[in-house]
Amino acid sequence: MVLRYFTVFAGLFLITSCGGEAPVVENEDPKVEEPMGTEEARTVYTLNCASCHGQDGKLKASNAADLSKSEMDDAHIKQTILNGNDKGMMPYKEMLSAREVEGLVKFVKTLREE
Ligand code: HEC
Repeated sequence: MVLRYFTVFAGLFLITSCGGEAPVVENEDPKVEEPMGTEEARTVYTLNCASCHGQDGKLKASNAADLSKSEMDDAHIKQTILNGNDKGMMPYKEMLSAREVEGLVKFVKTLREE
């Protein structure tokens, strides 16, 4: 009798734990689907990019490009952030999420002066 109750209980536990877990994992980062806004992207930029490019894009430390004068298109900006380039920009693909990279592509263009 005791054993039978146990089996039923264990069965229920398995069903509830399977059903309950999946959505939690899916929603681990609720912002994942939302594109990054300017302020959040600015923070990512400040932490990862401003040391060479400067907060306004013009610092040019370590021979960095002046981002206020950059004319690069989105695809090339993304490429440069992900893989770096042979002029001293290092690759960020291991350090930034896809969402952060998308946010930065948009953000660096806000530093341009026209
Ligand atoms: C260690 C210094 C350094 C850091 C940190 C750095 N960069 Fe760079 N970046 C460079 C250098 C050097 C170049 C190449 C300069 C050149 O092409 O003359 C460059 C070039 C670029 C370019 C190409 C601009 C153009 O028009 O040629 C973009 C866009 C860029 N960086 C964005 C970023 C972003 C976004 C980050 C932060 C994720 C970042 N960089 C972090 C040094 C750095």
